[in-house]
Order: sequence, then C-alpha cells, then structure tokens
Amino acid sequence: MKYSPDDLQRFLDVATEAASAGGAVLQYYWGNLSNVQQKGRPGDLVTEADKAAEKEVLSVLKLHFPDHAILAEESGSISAKSQKAAADLLWAVDPLDGTTNYAHQYPFCGCSVGLLIDGQPAVGAIFEPVHGALFRAAKGLGATCNRQPIHVSDTESLAESLLVTGFAYDRRETIDNNYAEFCHLTHLTRGVRRGGSASIDLAFVACGRLDGYWERGLSPWDVAAGVILVQEAGGQVSAYDQGPFDIQTGRILATNGNVHSELSEALGKVKPFERFAPQ
Ligand code: IPD
Ligand code: CA
Ligand code: CA
Repeated sequence: MKYSPDDLQRFLDVATEAASAGGAVLQYYWGNLSNVQQKGRPGDLVTEADKAAEKEVLSVLKLHFPDHAILAEESGSISAKSQKAAADLLWAVDPLDGTTNYAHQYPFCGCSVGLLIDGQPAVGAIFEPVHGALFRAAKGLGATCNRQPIHVSDTESLAESLLVTGFAYDRRETIDNNYAEFCHLTHLTRGVRRGGSASIDLAFVACGRLDGYWERGLSPWDVAAGVILVQEAGGQVSAYDQGPFDIQTGRILATNGNVHSELSEALGKVKPFERFAPQ
C-alpha cells in the first residue's frame, strides 16, 4: 500500500465529513418528502433527498480532493479535474442507500461514502440518519460505530446465525433473482432479514448484530464503504465461492468469518426457482 496510515486517516476524516453532511440532509427530509419518482425499474426510486444529499457529499469531496475521481449513484462518473489526478483512487458514493425504506419511513438506510484504492475498498464512512449512528473504517485502522471499536459476532454455525440479504431491482427479469437462496438459507438458519440497505446490512455484520450477508446485482457505491467495515471489524468478504471479492461483479459474501465456508457451500447448492423465471 503506497498510502501511509496518516494518508488513510485523512481520507477517513474526509469520508466522515462527507457522509455526515449527506446524512444531515437525510435527517432534514425524513418524513417530509414531496418528490418521489421511479428512476428505472419498478421499485427503483429517487427522491429530492437522494439528490440533495449527493450534492452535499460531492461538495465535501471536491473541496478536499479536487484531483480524485468519483463514482456517485445519481451523478454517475465524475472524472478527476487535473492531470495530477490520482489514477488509483475512486470515491464511490451512495447518498441514500435504502431509498425505498426512506420513502416509506422504514428506519433502515444510510449515506455511504467509500474510497477504492486500486479497485479495493480501503476507506468507508456510513451515516445512519434515523438513529444518528456513524460507522467508520479504514485499512489497518480498525472499525468503529460512534467512535467506539466494533467487532463481528463470534457465532460458530449457520444454524445459530441471523443473516441478511437483498433482491436487486432486476429481480423480475432474471431467474438469478436470489429467491431460492433466500428460502434455502431461511431453512438452515435462525432467520434471514431483508434489510433494504446494503451499506447498513454490512455495517450490522461489522458490529455483530448479523452474522452474514450475501447479495447479487449490487453497484460499487452500495458496498464500497461496508466492505472495509466488515474486514476491519474482523470479518471476511469474498465472492460466493470464497474466491477474491471483486466489486465489479455485483456479488458479495460477507460474514463474521466463522460461518463463511458453511454459507458459501449452502449458496453453492441452490438451484433457482423455475417458477420465477421471466416469462
Ligand atoms: C439498494 C439497497 C438494497 C439492495 C439493492 C440496492 P438503493 O440501494 O442497497 O438493499 O437490495 O440492490 O440497489 O437503491 O436504495 O440505493
Ligand atoms: Ca444503494
Ligand atoms: Ca441510493
């Protein structure tokens, strides 16, 4: 890693400032939305809170790091301005992760700001606006919630685990829609939650409230911050088959480490439900 712990701390402080600024916007609009629109597929919403929060996050990042590239959900890819651009750095911003929850005032969402170094999650800050929780982590610097160190659970088996997953917006268009996996794992565990916010799902694995998480169809901004949280909290993040995690695949398996192999093997045995194949 060519960045020193001081560099990483600086990135983390700016990520924190950005996520907190975006999170304050989410607090402002909570319960007071007047513009909820469908963005693409059914259920894929965007609100004035998503857009206003992203504006705040981007202004903080651009103020401190005008030479860094940014990938933000609502604005897309923003190239670094100057020739001095740090080609190995990419900020991945989800201003409101859990828009459907937010629009329904279901209190499970976050403003997520992650930094990828050479494509790997290295720094992350997630602000959960409803309870005011701030999750932070950077490579080698540990993971915290509201500045207190956090750690993954010590659950040993899948049978004793509480898991979480999600269903991407393309679920009606693909047989690979995660329905069969959800049923299979519901059968093998204490339960499987569908949180509705990938970043908070990962934050909850990091702080030991949940033992494992898997999902497909994700974008880099959904998980960039959460992955480093889980890793720094002592957990494990990989592909479904335990191969190296690749943020571009949209697939993730994140656990406390103890149940990683068992969950991976269980996912490997699932056959999709033909009944829910697209017509
Ligand atoms: C969504 C949430 C959800 C996940 C979806 C994501 P959004 O993000 O993280 O939990 O299942 O795949 O797209 O649209 O609320 O930012
Ligand atoms: Ca998201
Ligand atoms: Ca979003």
